[in-house]
Amino acid sequence: MNFELSEEQTLIQEMVREFAASDVAPIAAKIDRDHRFPEELIPRLAELNLLGVPFPVESGGAGADYVSYVIVLEEIARVCASTAIIVSAHTSLATWPIKEFGTDAQKEAYVSKLASGALLGAFALTEPGAGTDAAAGTTTAELVGDEYVLNGSKIFITNGGYADVYIVTAMTDPTAGTRGISAFIVDADTPGFTVGERENKMGIRASSTTPLYFTDCRIPKDALLGQPGKGFKIAMATLDGGRIGVAAQALGIAQGALDASISYAKERVQFGKPLAALPAIQWMISDMATEVDAARLLVYRAAWNKDNGLPYGAAASMAKLFASETATRVAGKAIQIHGGYGYTESYPVERAYRDAKITELYEGTSEVQHMVIAGSLLR
Ligand code: CAA
Repeated sequence: MNFELSEEQTLIQEMVREFAASDVAPIAAKIDRDHRFPEELIPRLAELNLLGVPFPVESGGAGADYVSYVIVLEEIARVCASTAIIVSAHTSLATWPIKEFGTDAQKEAYVSKLASGALLGAFALTEPGAGTDAAAGTTTAELVGDEYVLNGSKIFITNGGYADVYIVTAMTDPTAGTRGISAFIVDADTPGFTVGERENKMGIRASSTTPLYFTDCRIPKDALLGQPGKGFKIAMATLDGGRIGVAAQALGIAQGALDASISYAKERVQFGKPLAALPAIQWMISDMATEVDAARLLVYRAAWNKDNGLPYGAAASMAKLFASETATRVAGKAIQIHGGYGYTESYPVERAYRDAKITELYEGTSEVQHMVIAGSLLR
């Protein structure tokens, strides 16, 4: 067993850390305050090959492994969780399923463009009545001649309005339960497809979260991803990988809050000495560091399983469950250490606290992760 990063992983970590410090950190607080999607970062991310990290070079990607990909998300989330989810939803939830389940023609048309950042992707599964119960969606796709006609709506779609390509699930056979759900690749400029108003969120405010509407939206028959009726399995398999990405995002948020707390504890003087000299603060910081380290081991292990062809669904859920709850706890303690200042926008920890909470909710709530983990143990 070896806990060291490879030379390539270390180089990627250094590169993305530098990029996060130079390009993302300076705008992170402002784009959050303004609820502004950081469009200017997309070409920069593309230039550095950060929008297709785990895909082969010949498919437009960086040709790196999944461990490198989670390092990228962790380092970006350390300074800006919004930017991390833009990258993660695009990579794990849009590009990956096309690479994995697409026909040669679909891969040819989309994967290189997505992986190189020429196109941005999104994933649309959730509906107003189908959140945790993802199979309860009512959006339909009816085969009429050579086209599928989509009708219905989706909600809470990350990258909504900015994505060029959406992976969309819809019922092709409403009598067949999860086996009646199919997945499709929908181009943003398809007539009958519209994007609704952005949500006003508690955190990750610079990421765009919108509803989508399909009104007699006609897509070619060959926009079907995988076989008819396999859309639920495609979505679940996609989320297995996506959850490692959210876990990495949570890890980065927690590490950022810990970094800020260590700096503050060394600088802030009370009772004539730095906070760092107080046992109560030392206790909190040592607990935070231990939890962050444990989260990192789970996140990297899940990614390593994926890289090595091992089952990773339950490992991804464990990583997400633990890392997301760690992020919330650690960000909460970070505010405690900062005292009243931590409750203001003058320090990054209040943003970390707001951003952390979503990682317990999207790509499956903590309760869903419990269901997946228990399912793997008790079946
Ligand atoms: N991989 C492949 N197939 C899978 C699978 C997996 N990980 N998990 C389940 N399946 C298959 C099952 O084998 C079963 O197949 P058969 O019909 O052949 O038996 C089928 O899918 C149905 O499985 P279940 O009966 O277990 O399905 P369920 O309806 O009980 O749902 C659930 C289980 C885990 C609760 C699931 O609904 C779920 O994951 N819910 C949460 C949804 C979610 O994570 N949404 C996130 C939205 S995306 C998002 O948040 C993106 C963003 O903004 C960033």
